[in-house]
Amino acid sequence: MHVEFAWPDDLVLGINQVDAEHIAIIAQIEMLQALEIEKDGVSDFEDIANGIKDISIKHFAHEERMMEKHCVPDFERHKREHSSFINQITRFISLSKKDNNDTALQFHKICGNWYIKHIRTYDKKMALYI
Ligand SMILES: [Fe+2]
Ligand SMILES: [Fe+2]
Repeated sequence: MHVEFAWPDDLVLGINQVDAEHIAIIAQIEMLQALEIEKDGVSDFEDIANGIKDISIKHFAHEERMMEKHCVPDFERHKREHSSFINQITRFISLSKKDNNDTALQFHKICGNWYIKHIRTYDKKMALYI
């Protein structure tokens, strides 16, 4: 599935690899929106949701390694934000009704909103020290 979306300038950190990871994650999140629109792939929800979780775990580990290396202030708080997101989506995936048409859309909203807010605040701040 190919999903097109515009990447707003204010979400660009200027750290190429991290920016590429953010775009890849949002592309996966947007696939949930496409699932909902097409109404044909709710059974794919679990695969996509677990994919978002896996890619997020790798991405967060990458940011945390960079923050440690560059002694970024508020590192622990940023790290807690990451783990609370993983806990939140893990709970959502395990509690969601996989046959519910709204599940993909709800998950899309939770993940999309979290990432946009997190990048604009925590990741942008981190980029000042890298
Ligand atoms: Fe990030
Ligand atoms: Fe982050």
